[in-house]
Amino acid sequence: MTATLLSARGLRKSFPIARNLLGRPTSGVRAVDGVDLDLGEGETVGVVGESGSGKSTAGRLLARLDTPDAGRIELEGRDITGVRGRELKRVRRRLQVIFQDPYGSLDPTKTVEHAVTEPLVVHRVGSRADRADRASELLVQVALDPSLAQRYPDELSGGQRQRVAIARAMALSPRVLVADEPTSALDLSTRSEILNLLLELQDGSGLGTVLISHDFATVRHLTHRIVVMYLGRVVEEGETAALVAEPLHPYTRALLSAVPVPDPARQRGRERIVLRGEQPDPAAPPSGCRFRGRCPQAMPRCAETDPALLDAGNGRRVACLLHHDEHMATTSARP
Ligand SMILES: Nc1ncnc2c1ncn2[C@@H]1O[C@H](COP(=O)(O)OP(=O)(O)OP(=O)(O)O)[C@@H](O)[C@H]1O
Ligand code: SF4
Ligand SMILES: [Mg+2]
Repeated sequence: MTATLLSARGLRKSFPIARNLLGRPTSGVRAVDGVDLDLGEGETVGVVGESGSGKSTAGRLLARLDTPDAGRIELEGRDITGVRGRELKRVRRRLQVIFQDPYGSLDPTKTVEHAVTEPLVVHRVGSRADRADRASELLVQVALDPSLAQRYPDELSGGQRQRVAIARAMALSPRVLVADEPTSALDLSTRSEILNLLLELQDGSGLGTVLISHDFATVRHLTHRIVVMYLGRVVEEGETAALVAEPLHPYTRALLSAVPVPDPARQRGRERIVLRGEQPDPAAPPSGCRFRGRCPQAMPRCAETDPALLDAGNGRRVACLLHHDEHMATTSARP
């Protein structure tokens, strides 16, 4: 059993969509509506789901770029849910984030060396000479030529820019990396290079990674565990191999049915489950199971009961009434 690096319980976050005359929110989008997540040392946990399911909001909460409305987040056993100022700065040393668009974290007017060493300056790590050495070391670590140190972001390719963003994120040797769609903006071949780089950085270092992606094909090859989100909630969670081999939730099954498998014989025998309709408006989720309007297996009682995320054995949890009857034992509450 590895040590838990990051642990979240009952995370909630709403964004106001209407306000009264006093400026108080009268209704809101529940972007994240009760999410739990654990990340162990050296582990990669994938967070998957369609656009708008709340993945990025959950990632921003976990990384404390946003503050949850409710719930609790612990980093290496310390409560970081509401920390601010100097304490939040300390969190940054241990937990870093990379995004889909490295331009978001790279200032086009500053050199690569500046980008990579800025976290060291902010956290007052090393002398100027030390930092220049560390920049070269980091560039080598992300397989970039150290001679690129004096270049500017727009002189680099998309893949090189993402490598710089990764080098910057690794500058303070964090324990946790939250990567939100880190390869979605890249072409296919660059995508696998960057994903392999993330794996290499993790190898033997104990770094824990939360990998957010709308693409099941990406997360299934890179993660130890997968968390599937639908409309702000976790609907299924489990060890990657077991979850991919036998998805329990109808939504997970549908997402996986769209992912090609390498074996052509198996691929021919597979049924593609096409989901009906769109995700409902998260501001007004349906009664009962939120997935029922699109679920091929929906039953009348799915309109009445909102299925809790329950333990299905072997580390699997699922929020679906079909499975609640079969082998549910314990409650959704985790210690
Ligand atoms: N700052 C915000 N203000 C208002 N609504 C927001 C805000 N951020 C997110 N939302 C809403 O919250 C819901 C979840 O959004 P989020 O970006 O977390 O989803 P996502 O799963 O990351 O989607 P994508 O795959 O498109 O990145 C969406 O309905 C979105 O419109
Ligand atoms: S609870 Fe009902 S509607 Fe929801 S996923 Fe399960 S079968 Fe489908
Ligand atoms: Mg997103």
